[in-house]
Amino acid sequence: MPIDTLKSLLGPLGLITEAADTAAYAEDWRKLYRGHPRAVLRPANTDELAAAVKICAAAGAKIVPQGGNTSMCGGATPSEDGSEFILSLSRMNRIRAIDPIDQTLTVDAGVTLKAAQNAAEEAGCLLPLSIGSEGTAQIGGVLSTNAGGNNTVRYGNARDLVLGLEVVLPDGEIWHGLRQLRKDNTGYCLRQLFVGAEGTLGIITAAVMKLVPQPTELAVALCAVPSPEAALALFTRFHRNDPAAIQAFEYMSGAGMEFVLRNIPGTTLPLADRAPHYALIELATPRPNAGLRAAMELVLEAALAAGDVTDAAIAESQAQRAAIWRLREEHTEAQKREGASVKNDVSVPVSKVPAFIREATLACEALMPGIRVVPFGHMGDGNIHFNLEQPVDMDGAAFLGRDHDIMDTVCAVVRKYDGSFSAEHGIGQLKPYMMPDWRGGAELAVMQRIKAAIDPAGMMNPGKVLP
Ligand code: FAD
Ligand code: MLT
Ligand code: ZN
Repeated sequence: MPIDTLKSLLGPLGLITEAADTAAYAEDWRKLYRGHPRAVLRPANTDELAAAVKICAAAGAKIVPQGGNTSMCGGATPSEDGSEFILSLSRMNRIRAIDPIDQTLTVDAGVTLKAAQNAAEEAGCLLPLSIGSEGTAQIGGVLSTNAGGNNTVRYGNARDLVLGLEVVLPDGEIWHGLRQLRKDNTGYCLRQLFVGAEGTLGIITAAVMKLVPQPTELAVALCAVPSPEAALALFTRFHRNDPAAIQAFEYMSGAGMEFVLRNIPGTTLPLADRAPHYALIELATPRPNAGLRAAMELVLEAALAAGDVTDAAIAESQAQRAAIWRLREEHTEAQKREGASVKNDVSVPVSKVPAFIREATLACEALMPGIRVVPFGHMGDGNIHFNLEQPVDMDGAAFLGRDHDIMDTVCAVVRKYDGSFSAEHGIGQLKPYMMPDWRGGAELAVMQRIKAAIDPAGMMNPGKVLP
């Protein structure tokens, strides 16, 4: 039995078998899936992890890698049949090295994104990846989903921030690829295969992340805007003025803001009146005395004069910046508290975001009268979370039962604009059924061949990503 061998390898802290103790690992953040793991493995380091994978491989036992378990699509939740092991990285949380000259941070995969950001900050640097779940999500999970978040507009996604990886392959072999090189053209770029693979090709055990200098000036504003078109016009104004200064440009609907103000204690709107739409802009620079605040005021004055902005609040302190960001980052939690929701994490070209929001709204309202449309997200990179909340008088389960109809309705508009049905959350077990339609033919065939080459026994995260 692999369990006995695993027990002697990992010790009491490294193996959890009781259902009461494995329960927290067995359900996804959205509570869409509840699996039944055979056990949870929690190795303390890469060698232990590799040895555990070898034991599983020899026994033909399947593995579901798990980081902070914040997946939006059930990516880290095991099957219900009790046959799969969860492999949790939670004990592998060492900051291995930081180099402010090379601007690199080397960490175990189980380090939370927040802890990695803090380590960078202590060295006067910035790890420019920011997502609402950063206190819980781990570097391994963030890389395995190629997370995006608020700073993609300036720094790209997680894959743009990784220089090297250490990976345990499905047979237990360790690939030592923790390089810190900015240039390295030596064959296929393996690290990028594992980024975004959602644990289907191997287990990331450590990573070298790129850093940038810490900003010395920040300017954050919340703006009331009359329409999504006006929000885009505002983005274009900031972009023309100084694209390099934009660190985040987020869109929020009036409905989403109401959910936050109603459900999240301590939140208030720093504007005179409620608005139909909002934009959050963050400018940042490491250049001292760059005059960001004055630049922001000039752009906003012009936008107010043109009617693209009807009111604006510029943060005067770190506390006000945090309060404005909280209104944005609590959208997910506020929606959860409001009832059942269907998420569409989609992207279209930035120029098409307003048309997409309008058409998808009309299509959803026609599909289900009373449905509450709550689009928000990363307008600056074209990624909108086109989320739908159950009608107030509808049963939550009945609403979720219509999820495919709703997703198909939204995706028909996404397709019209040559967008993506999953911009940053990945595929997990929620969306493999959409892969043949969207990525079928040569693209899916190559993915299947890659999977077969690296994981011929199908050990790693079965049922995820590929149909
Ligand atoms: P998990 O949920 O544990 O796992 C995610 C996937 O990666 C699974 O397939 C798992 O098997 C695999 N995996 C995990 N660790 C490893 C590893 N070490 N090696 C190999 N595979 C591994 N995502 C965004 O992109 N942008 C956002 O703005 C954003 N905001 C969010 C806000 C909230 C409140 C929540 C709950 C989620 C949000 N997410 C966002 C979604 C989620 O993808 C991210 O939180 C994060 O990328 C997942 O990290 P995790 O450690 O929790 O991974
Ligand atoms: C976010 O950007 O806050 C999350 O990715 C979105 C979501 O909850 O759908
Ligand atoms: Zn997001």
